[in-house]
This record gives sequence, C-alpha cells and structure tokens, in this order.
Amino acid sequence: PARLYGQRRNSSGLDLASESVLAALSRVLQASAGREWRAGPMVPGLSVIRPPQDVRNPADRRDLVGQVSLTLERDVPLAFANAARAAAGWRETPPAQRAAMLKRAADLLEGQIGVLIGLVIREAGKSAANAVAEIREAVDFLRYYADQARATLNEAHTPIGPVVCISPWNFPLAIFVGQIAAALAAGNPVLAKPAEETPLIAAQAVSILHQAGVPLGALQMLTGAGEIGAALVAHPDVAGVLFTGSTQVAKLIQRELARHDGPPPVLIAETGGQNAMIVDSSALAEQVTGDVLSSAFDSAGQRCSALRILCLQEDIAGRQLAMLKGALGELRVGNPDRLSTDIGPVITDEARTAIAVHIERLRADGCKVWQAPLGEETGHGSFIAPTIIEIDDIAQIGGEVFGPVLHVLRYARGDLGAVVKAINGTGYGLTFGLHTRLDETIAEVTGAIAAGNIYVNRNTIGAVVGVQPFGGRGLSGTGPKAGGPLYLGRLVRARPALDLP
Ligand code: NAD
Ligand code: ALA
Repeated sequence: PARLYGQRRNSSGLDLASESVLAALSRVLQASAGREWRAGPMVPGLSVIRPPQDVRNPADRRDLVGQVSLTLERDVPLAFANAARAAAGWRETPPAQRAAMLKRAADLLEGQIGVLIGLVIREAGKSAANAVAEIREAVDFLRYYADQARATLNEAHTPIGPVVCISPWNFPLAIFVGQIAAALAAGNPVLAKPAEETPLIAAQAVSILHQAGVPLGALQMLTGAGEIGAALVAHPDVAGVLFTGSTQVAKLIQRELARHDGPPPVLIAETGGQNAMIVDSSALAEQVTGDVLSSAFDSAGQRCSALRILCLQEDIAGRQLAMLKGALGELRVGNPDRLSTDIGPVITDEARTAIAVHIERLRADGCKVWQAPLGEETGHGSFIAPTIIEIDDIAQIGGEVFGPVLHVLRYARGDLGAVVKAINGTGYGLTFGLHTRLDETIAEVTGAIAAGNIYVNRNTIGAVVGVQPFGGRGLSGTGPKAGGPLYLGRLVRARPALDLP
C-alpha cells in the first residue's frame, strides 16, 4: 500500500553511462588498487585472534586483496553469551530508532560507494556494473526493512531472539546485509557468518552498521567456513537462521535445527535454482538475444537466478542460436579491473574445475558444445569461457551448474506442455522466463510453471528490493521472499494478549 512504500526510493547507484562518472570511478579504483584490507571475528571479549590467511583476487591470484583471521568453533559460545547480554537492550530499542540506525548505515554505504565497488570487484570478481548493483541492493535492503519495521512492528510484537545469518559469496554485500538488516530491524541480536570467500567486504558492512549505532553485542560477525556456520546453527540458544546458499547445505541446517530441544528455531532458506526460459516462434529475436545473454552470463552465471536451460521452439532455434553466439562472442571476458569487462572470473579454481568437468561430461555424451573466446589477461585467474551446450533432455544436466554455462533444448510447438512438465520436474522453482507475443501462451505457461519469480518478455535476473520480492519454491527455498512485505513477520512473535477483567 502507498502508506508503506510511498516515501521509499531505491538507491540510484552510479550512472555508468556517464563519462564523468566513469572517469571518477576509474580514479577511485586506481587509488585503491593495491590496498590491503583486514577482517576477523567481530566478537567482543575474544582474547585470541588467529594468524591471518590471505584473500586473493579470483581474476588475478597475484593480487592480494587482504587478510582474514578465522573464528574457531570454541568462540561460538562467547558470541551467544554476548548476544544474550545485548538482547534486552536491542529488543527495547523502539522500532523507529532501530530503523534510523539502519538508514544511517545505508547513507554511510552510499557515501563510500566508490571504495566499496573497488573491494567487491577485487574480492568477488564482479564486473563494475555488478559491483554497483551489489552496493545499491544492500542500501535498498537496509532502507526497505527499516521502513517495514517502522510501519508494521509495534507493542504487539516481540523479537524471536538470537538470529544466525549465513550467506553466500555471490552477493557478498547485498545478501549479507539484507539478512542482517531484517533480523536487526525486527529487534533480534545477530550472529552473522559471511561466506569464507568474501569476508573483507562483509567486515566493512558490519563496521558501518556499528558506526551507525548498532551495538557491538547486537551485531557480531564470525569469519570462517562451513564448520563455524554449523556450530552456530547447533547452539541451543539459536532462535532463527537466515540462510542463503546451496540446497544441500540448507538441508543439513534443517536437520540440525530439528535436533534442537524445545521448539524448532525459525529457518528461512533461500537456495539454488535450475532456471529455465521458454522462447516460442512469436518472440522478438533481438530482444531474446539480449535477455538470454544477461540472464545466463551476467555475473559469469553465478547468480541463483541465472538462466540455465533455454527452451527454443524448433522453428526458430537455428537462427536464435546463431544470434546468441554472435552476440556472446562480442562480450569482453576478462579481469573486471577494466571497466569495459562484461564477464569476470568464477570464484575459485575448484569452481572452475567442477564446471569444466560438467562441460566435458556433456561433450562426451555427444552434446554440441560452443564456447566464446576468453580475453588475453585471464591466465592468472579462475576463468571459464562462456559456454552454450545443446541437450536433448533436461535430465542430462544433473544439478545446478553455478557458472557461465547455458543448456539449450529444442522443442516442437505441440510439446509445450511436456516442456513445462520437464522444467517443473527438476524440483527447483526459483526463476522462470517466457518470451512470446501470444497472450494465450502467457496465460497457459505462467499458470502451470512452479517458480517463485516469473518474468515475461524480459531477462530473469536482478529482482529489485520492494518491487520484485525474491525467493523460490520446492528445492529453491522456504520463503517468505526477501525484500518483500512478509519477511519481517517471520522474525517476530505475537506477544501474548493479556485479557484482564
Ligand atoms: P554454500 O551452500 O556452499 O555456502 C553458503 C554458506 O553456508 C557459506 O557461508 C558457507 O560457509 C555456509 N555453510 C557451508 N556448510 C555449512 C553447514 N554445514 N552449516 C552451516 N553453514 C554452512 O553456497 P555458496 O557456494 O556460497 O553459494 C552458491 C549457492 O547459493 C548456489 O547454490 C546459489 O544458487 C545459492 N544462492 C541462492 C540465492 C537465493 O536467493 N535463492 C542467492 C544467492 C545464492
Ligand atoms: N536477487 C538476485 C537476482 O534476482 C539473486 O538476480
């Protein structure tokens, strides 16, 4: 309703089509190129800090982005004790005051956008445009949940208690901050574990939130890998877990939470996808080309929302594929330290190997494989050439392939229903795209597809906070959707109603 959203505006980010903005950004990036960042556990009272490990740029491993000290499992009880001490003060802080702190943090993030873009590019291998979007989305989450808390929470609600936030590396700021913002806005103390690949940008976000007034005990950060996440989830005081990552880890967390004595903690899990797009012969080929390329290859395909299976009606498949390959060949794959880079690296050498093994398996199965050229300066990073693979059956793919690989399936007009069934048959249900100019097809297909976010005649990535609440069904997540009006409701309980005579 306008009452809730009327005053809210999403961040405008930076206009990368402006020459003066690009020149200013280049200067900031050059100035911060060699800077080394630091991160470590942000847990008050921790007496021993472990020797740091290097964090290197996935686009060029020679570039040392910074160092991180890891948390140990034995530090977890201290973090929960701190959270317990901070809980009452944070709970009693009125929603409007908590919201004001989150908004201050949003302003501080926006104020440091240039430097943060540089860090996101180097730590996560994001392109400049993706790095801008990353910071914008973090800002939007802060403001959105702040407004939601102010507008919807009152004395009838009480926070659920300590919330553990566990996030992935592919949105190292946006999802990390989004989870924290929601849990804090609802009045819960937070124990946040960023992805092990991207602790440096996470540490900057937590420092900014502290600077904005969030008490140190109400927001703690625990660096480290899966074991730290598992130790946080297993702690008896956990009241809720906000998890974004793979379906496999979400299931491990769900099992662990089921073992807790007492009522099971709240779990919001946003997980993987096996996202498809159907393109029929009435679609506009040029528009399809742009939308498919951004859906499948933006962020080197490392988005949960990314397009993995393109279903082309056979009458137009040959021409559409030729256009896709031609346009993909024009994109620049390389180190995102150049602002003109379209597609950067994948996150680790292990990820590159897993994707390469998948491509070779399908090639050995007899599938046609086409790869775009790599840029010159990719030899020191974890790069994989954007790849198009023609398949005969969706089942050939197996699970989610998290990289720049697009599978293409041809279908006959009469088989549309069977294609929809096969897409639903993957069990995932995150994003789905449809390109058609036929109203009946829009009604038929969108009514039958089981997916959280359905996009018609556009690309399938980049859901906007407060505009396109984001989240999946089935193997893709539990809901409620992030950046949507139902999210905070899972992080509070109704206070018992007192009925006095
Ligand atoms: P991941 O599941 O390997 O790791 C995610 C987080 O979980 C990391 O912080 C990791 O340290 C932690 N973790 C690992 N094992 C754990 C355990 N046993 N207990 C608790 N925590 C544990 O995922 P990833 O590789 O970082 O991210 C990529 C995945 O995330 C893809 O599957 C992608 O689709 C998904 N994703 C989903 C969304 C969404 O909104 N649906 C958004 C982004 C990414
Ligand atoms: N919210 C992100 C997108 O829509 C994952 O691409």
